[in-house]
Amino acid sequence: MQINEVTRLDRDDQVAVVTVASPPVNALSAAVRTGVAEAMAMAYADAEVQAIVLICEGRTFFAGADITEFGKPVVEPSLRQLQVIVEDAPKPVVAAIHGTALGGGLELALVAHYRVAVPSAKLGLPEAKLGLLPGAGGTQRLPRVVGVERALEMMTGGEPIPAADAESVGLVDRLVPEGALREGAIAFARERIGAPLEKIRDRPLSLRPGQVEAFRQANAKRFRNLAAPEAIIRSVEDGAAIPFDEAMARERELFNELLAGPQSAALRHVFFAERQAAKVDGLPKGTPTRPITHVGVIGAGTMGGGIAMNFANAGIPVMLVETRADALERGLSVIRRNYENSARKGKLTAAQIEERMALLQGTLALDEVAACDLVIEAVFEQMDVKQDLFRRLDRIAKPDAILASNTSYLDLDAIAAVTSRPEQVIGLHFFSPANVMRLLEIVRGAKTDVGVLATAVELAKTIRKVGVVVGNCYGFVGNRMLAARHAQAEALVNEGAMPWDVDRVIHGFGFGMGPFAMRDLVGLDVGWVREKSTASTVREVLNEMGRHGQKSGGGYYDYDDRRNATPSPIAEQAVIDFSAKLGIERRAVSDDEIRDRCILAMVNEGAKILDEGIAQRASDIDTVWINGYGWPPYLGGPMFWADRQGLPAILDRLRALQAAHGEAFRPSPLIERLVAEGKGFADA
Ligand code: 3HC
Repeated sequence: MQINEVTRLDRDDQVAVVTVASPPVNALSAAVRTGVAEAMAMAYADAEVQAIVLICEGRTFFAGADITEFGKPVVEPSLRQLQVIVEDAPKPVVAAIHGTALGGGLELALVAHYRVAVPSAKLGLPEAKLGLLPGAGGTQRLPRVVGVERALEMMTGGEPIPAADAESVGLVDRLVPEGALREGAIAFARERIGAPLEKIRDRPLSLRPGQVEAFRQANAKRFRNLAAPEAIIRSVEDGAAIPFDEAMARERELFNELLAGPQSAALRHVFFAERQAAKVDGLPKGTPTRPITHVGVIGAGTMGGGIAMNFANAGIPVMLVETRADALERGLSVIRRNYENSARKGKLTAAQIEERMALLQGTLALDEVAACDLVIEAVFEQMDVKQDLFRRLDRIAKPDAILASNTSYLDLDAIAAVTSRPEQVIGLHFFSPANVMRLLEIVRGAKTDVGVLATAVELAKTIRKVGVVVGNCYGFVGNRMLAARHAQAEALVNEGAMPWDVDRVIHGFGFGMGPFAMRDLVGLDVGWVREKSTASTVREVLNEMGRHGQKSGGGYYDYDDRRNATPSPIAEQAVIDFSAKLGIERRAVSDDEIRDRCILAMVNEGAKILDEGIAQRASDIDTVWINGYGWPPYLGGPMFWADRQGLPAILDRLRALQAAHGEAFRPSPLIERLVAEGKGFADA
């Protein structure tokens, strides 16, 4: 029987089955809550029904509260009201789980008397990723099931666990075969007819002395600046200290505080921004894509190797091309080492390593990419080198193959122009380490075909990247803004700040690392050519001294054996000498000046990028910076952050900076326009 547009109630003998079908992810919207509440009431009233199964159709069990309803007046029954209805059921209720039981979805399953799942299901409380805590009893019930330690880990990390793990910790009562969830759940329910109706809330929750404090301390770095993990910890502490219903009331208060706070707003923006990025102007849904079953990667260095791993991880065979046998050998052994490191962390099995290595075939013959559907080059970042390679690839690759460049700065159209198939050329800009970083800038050339673009967008999903389509310009979105920040960081150091002052402020802002520490990590000599070096920047001076960063024991900082950094007196002297050489009298530079010049230079450049159409929307820029450059997600990305500051305030500050520090801060016309219209970047 159809209960409402998203809920059905059927019966299989003595077992009632409540089925929800609310695509795409069965979020617990008002319609879903109403439907389930009504279906439950009918099943309770039906004397022939002895047990109830709650199941979803489509790709997943309930994936959580409906995030789009947050901040709007609650339509009853609320999720908590629905939970009371289920928890107080007069007959056993079995939640039947497939896909991802997340957030409010898992919290609803936790008020059922039992949970069964298929092996491919995942269960988790990811609210912290949205800057929230589980607000429907998750902080109270999960520790009662899986233990405090595991629950804190699951809730603060937000990563779902596989059904088999869930079964081993008692979160799932039975695994049923894939594809047979409904039958399995009904059979399980039948076995439980007449069994006592136990509630998770009645189980004990206690803490060992010092247990929570130890967890706090062990994770201090991971939780830095974040509001949600601390709220989760406090709520679990409440659970052990006060009666269940009071702890539930406190949990609700904490949830509402987080929901009204700036971090959750930013993190929810990030969630939707990532999904928006896949929607590209001029690329209608359903645009045909091309199958990518074989990939060629040219260059087995750090970048090429990392790129190749992404495809092997997704089960796609790769032809990895190098020019010299020793370089190829080295590249493949680095890949193997990376896999072995993952295996040591328990993320891969020995068999999986061999499976993936078997997908990676090395060769010294470029001709061997002839059968590939996609060839990605990751060779030296120089136009003539890339053009020469593309001429050769154009001759070798099959006619419909896509040719991609991993260039991070160069003009994609100039690369495409040397081929006979510019419409099949695209930029796929990976970020180092390419097997880890989630961002993929997909550079659309002037002639790139929509089918090729659609294929790249889909491919990003296949290899589990966040793909962002960007236009062709120097440095695209990410590196162009980074260059604007670097220019300020360098100018600040020339004028009077020390590299570690800049790093301290940027770290304090929320980045994991400041620009100079980052350069030391990457290597100061990347892109530096000794023969052409003219001591024209502090970086060049340090390189000429043999200070190339962490790998040489020092750069801006000195490093001990364990790579702990201390400000280097040698670098300090180099900075002072360099200012003198420029004829600059060094002055005191405040932290506020450092922050504003570095961050606003980025925002202003981002505005220009948006105005020029290099990025389709402001949130795409945020997605780039969060997934590729370490912008703190809880600040939502540079454009979201600027909107929150208020564009009129940003404009005023840019004008003041322009007066003091010159044209780099001339406000983008877009900012002027938006302020005049009373709008923000989000409306641009
Ligand atoms: N509410 C509303 N919409 C949601 C949603 C949610 N909880 N979860 C996903 N969606 C939407 C997405 O925005 C997307 O919409 P679009 O097609 O218009 O862009 C669509 O569903 C499909 O989502 P994905 O593209 O992400 O699909 P995937 O298959 O890649 O991933 C997923 C599915 C793993 C469920 C993923 O969407 C996800 O992680 N969702 C968020 C889950 C979550 O955070 N749940 C907790 C919510 S907070 C909560 O429950 C509070 C409670 O404690 C009170």
